[in-house]
This record gives sequence, C-alpha cells and structure tokens, in this order.
Amino acid sequence: MTNTLLILPGDGIGPEVMAEVTRIIDWFGARRGLKFDVSEDLVGGAAYDVHGVPLADATMARAQQVDAVLLGAVGGPKYDSLDFSVKPERGLLRLRKEMDLFANLRPAQCFDALADFSSLKRDVVAGLDIMIVRELTSGVYFGEPRGIFEENGQRVGINTQRYTESEIDRVARAAFELARKRNNKVCSMEKANVMESGILWREVVQRVHDADYPDVELSHMYADAGGMQLCRWPKQFDVIVTDNLFGDLLSDVAAMLTGSLGMLPSASLGAPMANGRPKALYEPVHGSAPDIAGQGKANPCACILSFAMALRYSFDQGDEATRLEQAVEKVLADGVRTADLMQAEGATPVSTSGMGDAILAALDASL
Ligand code: IPM
Ligand code: MG
Repeated sequence: MTNTLLILPGDGIGPEVMAEVTRIIDWFGARRGLKFDVSEDLVGGAAYDVHGVPLADATMARAQQVDAVLLGAVGGPKYDSLDFSVKPERGLLRLRKEMDLFANLRPAQCFDALADFSSLKRDVVAGLDIMIVRELTSGVYFGEPRGIFEENGQRVGINTQRYTESEIDRVARAAFELARKRNNKVCSMEKANVMESGILWREVVQRVHDADYPDVELSHMYADAGGMQLCRWPKQFDVIVTDNLFGDLLSDVAAMLTGSLGMLPSASLGAPMANGRPKALYEPVHGSAPDIAGQGKANPCACILSFAMALRYSFDQGDEATRLEQAVEKVLADGVRTADLMQAEGATPVSTSGMGDAILAALDASL
C-alpha cells in the first residue's frame, strides 16, 4: 500500500516547523524503508494571498484523497481585518468539517526533562500522560442558527450548541477504544447542570459505556470543575472526552501542565476510508506565533510529534512512532532547548533547524 501525505505548512512559524518534519519524513524513507508520496499545498493566509480563500477547492479535494494531512499553523495579524468568511482559521475549520474529523486526540504528556517548566509543581506534573478527546465537527463551532442579527433596535450575536445522539455516540466510542489501550479510564466532561446538550451528552456516553465498554472505568464531571481538577491533580485522569468548545479550552489548560505549547501534537480522526485507514489530519496544538515567525526560533517538536501520531494512527507504524518520540525525549534529556524551553539566563537556545539536527542525530543513534 502506498503512503500518501499532504503537507499544508500554512502561516507564521508553520513553514519553519514543517521544514523539519520534511527532513524527518525523508529520514524514515532513507533509513527505515518507509516511503511516503508527499505533496504540498496552501492553507490559511498563505492560500488567501494566492486564491482569495483560505482553502482552495482543489486542496480540499486532495485532502479527501490522501492517507494523512499534516498541517503547520494558520493565521496572523496581516489577516485580522479580513471578513470572517475568509479568515485563515476558516480553512482549518473547513478541513475538519468536510473530512468529518470528529475525534480530536490531544495528548498532554510531560517529558521528565521539562517537568520544571510547568507553572505547577514538579510532583503535580512529572510523569503526566493524559489524552483529551475533543469532539471536533459539531457543537457551538458549527451549530445553526449563528450570526449577528438585528433585534429590537440592537444587534445580537448568536451561536448554537447542538449535539445529536450519533455525534456523541461516535466520539464516546473513540474515547473508550483509546482508554482500552491506555489505563482504561474515561472521564466525560460537560455542563449537564445548565445545558440540555450536556444532559444528552452524559446520557449517551453512559449508554455507550454500559452497552459496549463496561470494562472501562467511566466518570462524569462538570467541565468547569474539570478545568479546576486538571490544575489541582491532573494525574487522576487518563482519557477525557468532551465537546468541541470545552475541549478547546481544556486542551489549552492541559497543554500548560506540560511546560510548553511548543511540545504538543494532535491527531484529528474520522471514519475509515476504503483502504481501512481513518480520514486524518495531524497538527501541532500551537498556533502560528507571528511574533517569532521567520526567525528560526520556533520549536518544531509539536509538529514532529504530530508526524509520530500519523505514523501510529494512519500508517500502523507504532514502533516507528515510538522511535521518533523517544528521539525527541532523548534530545530534551540531553538539554537541547529551543527558546520556548529556556529558563536559565545566559544559556543559548538552539534554532528550529538545530532542534531538527539533534532529533535526526538521535534517530540515527537509535538504529
Ligand atoms: C485549536 C484552535 C482552533 C480552534 C482555531 C485556530 C480555529 O484554537 O485547534 O485549538 O478553536 O479549534
Ligand atoms: Mg484552541
């Protein structure tokens, strides 16, 4: 089976971090015989500059055909004043929606070498390994009606939180399946105390559990309390399953437990395609960081670790994914740091490509 990849570097630091991923992809081709048929295209502001839209139809069509899409980042101040409908973020949201990538996996793992970077105490975060499963194609991000309307002489902004049973059912299953391969625990978060969609969410998650996953330990928590517990004692969690908006917030909270947003990858998965592989898009959790773009300062680890997730979830290469993750861990343990991971004054950070060099060297050493 051929392995097809579509690379969408996007905006800001996206192209810089993706350049390092490309070197890693080439390494797996040359040294592990894992050949990828790679094509590259535009998304976000970069696509807007050329096509007048943040995602061209031809790019969308290509994304539907490949085994995996790797995306860098979208957005930047240059595009702040654009109409909402063509903002860079809309390109990403279109990919998620049209590929129907309903399960967004956001691991928050604290590498031991970085445990002192978190704003929380070392013993709270050391060894942390949790997985947030965020519903990604529905909820308030996409619910209708939406818009800014005129009502009784003033404007009113409206978004709608909406979940069908089947939307909840399928993301719950994704969470339970993952839990079985981890520590067998799922905590579902919503606000059933104030939202009907939350009541339904809780009911459906419980029903899926009782019918098909009774062996997995399930608990429910209000999402606000969940945010609090993530900061108080995050190691109580294994898999967290939650909706689109709560997942957006809670995954940023979880990210900071690990020290740097520059470390965190994500996978967005949909239904299996004809070849059995899931529709998939992989991207770092961080954004386009326009303040440091083009300076070689960005940390490529999140994007590289996103490719590791692609190896695991799209290409069934779990051992090679682990090889790559361990190479990153080794480099961090050796003290190699990009600027976002620097604490001590006076120490010199490595550049984006310096981090890539170190990871490639660690990969070579792993053979
Ligand atoms: C994320 C981001 C996106 C989101 C933006 C860029 C549309 O914050 O992936 O977490 O809100 O989903
Ligand atoms: Mg976010």
